[in-house]
Amino acid sequence: PSDKLWGGRFAEQAAASLEDFTTSIHYDSRLFHHDIMGSKAHARMLVRQQLITAEEGEAILQGLDDIEADIEAGRFRFRPELEDIHMNIEKALTDRIGEAGARLHTARSRNDQINLDMRLYLRDECETLDGLLTALQRRLAALARKHLGTIMPGYTHLQRAQPVLLAHHLLAYATMFGRDRGRLADCKKRINVLPLGAAAIAGTGLPIDRDQVARDLGFPEVSVNSMDTVADRDFVLETLFCLNLVQLHLSRLSEELVLWSTKEFAFIRIGDRYCTGSSLMPQKKNPDIPELVRGKSGRVTGALVSLLMTMKGLPLSYNRDMQEDKEPLFDALDTVKASLAITCEMLGDTVFDAEKMRAATEGGFMTATDLADYLVKKNLPFRQAHGVAGRIVARCQELGCELSELPLAEMQAVSPLIGPDIGSSLSIEGSVNSRISAGGTARARVEEALAALEQQLGIH
Ligand code: ARG
Repeated sequence: PSDKLWGGRFAEQAAASLEDFTTSIHYDSRLFHHDIMGSKAHARMLVRQQLITAEEGEAILQGLDDIEADIEAGRFRFRPELEDIHMNIEKALTDRIGEAGARLHTARSRNDQINLDMRLYLRDECETLDGLLTALQRRLAALARKHLGTIMPGYTHLQRAQPVLLAHHLLAYATMFGRDRGRLADCKKRINVLPLGAAAIAGTGLPIDRDQVARDLGFPEVSVNSMDTVADRDFVLETLFCLNLVQLHLSRLSEELVLWSTKEFAFIRIGDRYCTGSSLMPQKKNPDIPELVRGKSGRVTGALVSLLMTMKGLPLSYNRDMQEDKEPLFDALDTVKASLAITCEMLGDTVFDAEKMRAATEGGFMTATDLADYLVKKNLPFRQAHGVAGRIVARCQELGCELSELPLAEMQAVSPLIGPDIGSSLSIEGSVNSRISAGGTARARVEEALAALEQQLGIH
């Protein structure tokens, strides 16, 4: 007969090729801590429900602690022929403590066990991600504080649009990462539901106490339908979607860092420690970190799409296909965490060139909207004001001058509504500081936004 833990009904040993093809231990071993945590809670419940004796419970808890210590110390040999993390640990436990170990799997299936492991693991990962996102927000807040006076072009269509504060631009990213934190916190609510007790598919006839396990493991809720429970990977997909938005935000930031570090923009200098050179061109200094962060957004998207495809046609309830959730999820988590950490680190060694940025606001008629708004305040309908400002821009182009350099008489020739008070409306600083609407780029508004963020982050 087969010597597998499930081997009773098998007349022959498993083929080596089957073992190679189906094993997941090379990636699910990373769940060991959470698998053991779940098993210990399960064992404590079995004792309290008198499904196993107190002595057996003690032996199980001790055995699991010993196994965990061995894994942490790198002394544990994971065996691919034992399929997955659950069976590797269970077999080691039984080898160590004998019959008590064989009682641990009472009223439990690997179908609810893997769901539990993934939830426990993801709960912790959500905390880690929140910490990394917070660190990045802090970095952005610090840069924003430093650059409250730095003016740069704001772009639409990558064409110079209206002058903004660099702090406003940086806080735009801090706002996105704040939403990412909120999304993960919301996702965590649905992760935070106890699946154990669903057993293989239908629940169990043994007198278990799911509420007790939930309390033990800090789950505020117990899952309501055993079939849904063992079939459910929504929480993994949702996490992957959250990870996708984080990486997408990082990717957009990275694109700007790449662009801004070109000679053509020259808005920033990324420190030497965070750039690479060319093996051929001696003069090169390349922004490989933001390029890779941008590039890695592809694999994070791939992870989400891969699991969506895996899940979409599966009948209820558990199917082995679902083992394919782990590699994409782990890869996406590793990628996003590494991208967050390195982006934060690199931004700490990036210099923003305030003069270059300010200079780039000249020459693009970036205060044309302010001219139109000035005319609106003189009661001209906005559409007409837009036309007047456009004709004045055209006149500047003919004369080869800036809006603020155009003589008043030239402007009045286009519209007699323009008076000598137009002056400050056409300056770059005047333009920025006039944008006092809520969420606008006026320094006063940006200072408020920054103060609110700093307060949220516990910075004084
Ligand atoms: N390694 C499996 C997975 O990741 C655990 C559940 C296996 N259950 C089973 N009935 N074969 O999905």
